[in-house]
Amino acid sequence: MVESRVIFITGAGSGIGFDTACRFIKTGATVIACDRDVLGLQKLEQFSQREGKIVEILPLDLLDVPSFNLAEDAVRKYGHLDVLVNCAGICSGTPLDQITIEEWDRTYAVNVKGPFFLTIRLLPFLKAGNQPTIINISSMAGFTGGIKSNPAYSSSKAALTCMTKNLAKFCAPFGIRVNEVSPGTARTAMVENWLDENEIQKFILQIPMGRLAEADDISRVIVFLASKDAGFITGQTIHVNGGMYIP
Ligand SMILES: NC(=O)c1ccc[n+]([C@@H]2O[C@H](COP(=O)([O-])OP(=O)(O)OC[C@H]3O[C@@H](n4cnc5c(N)ncnc54)[C@H](O)[C@@H]3O)[C@@H](O)[C@H]2O)c1
Repeated sequence: MVESRVIFITGAGSGIGFDTACRFIKTGATVIACDRDVLGLQKLEQFSQREGKIVEILPLDLLDVPSFNLAEDAVRKYGHLDVLVNCAGICSGTPLDQITIEEWDRTYAVNVKGPFFLTIRLLPFLKAGNQPTIINISSMAGFTGGIKSNPAYSSSKAALTCMTKNLAKFCAPFGIRVNEVSPGTARTAMVENWLDENEIQKFILQIPMGRLAEADDISRVIVFLASKDAGFITGQTIHVNGGMYIP
């Protein structure tokens, strides 16, 4: 049952986060949709209007940690938070020897520092939640080193995986489960901005199930992890990659 639950999703303006938000909105959950992309959030708002549901949109940049009080304010209204999905992330195909200090810092700020401090700020509300849970979106690249080997991205995602484990241990005594979904390669704006169709086809040849993931392959697993059925799962990674990486 996800009805009447309060769900906070970062990266809700596009791709996996957008699809996850749509899925929760359809169930009647209260969704606080956060992204720096206001246009994407407006599209989500239009979706919820078509469904006859309400979504609360929260434009926020994860680079701006001091602005996280806006996230607290948005959740405080409900008095509790049941599900936090840390989905926003950035990736680039910058070759290893061309990564600048600025790109390195920005990648870590969005993929690791932002999710960590947002989680800490929202933890008091999760402690008051109903079967509360946190779901981070990591990456196959954090396990394999990445295909195009951008160490800023892959190591930031490995850090997020480690953070998931830390948080799971820290949060368990409060009844808060913390897990992550690790996508392989999914057909979203992130990948389409980075790989052309020719490169995508080369990727597909390496995927045993013969296709890229779609956003909903990932969002369905996020919804499962948020459900009662996943009630004794914590500190885990669910790999969703069509068999491309099998630990
Ligand atoms: N698409 C893939 O193949 C793939 C593979 C592995 C992991 N992932 C991870 O899945 C997550 C979602 O990616 P996606 O594929 O849906 O990409 P996407 O680019 O479609 O969506 C990412 C969203 O994050 C938002 N975002 C980026 N920087 C932000 C910031 N500073 N503040 C607030 N919001 C910000 C963007 O505006 C965008 O709406 C990411 O964490 C990504 O690393 C994706």
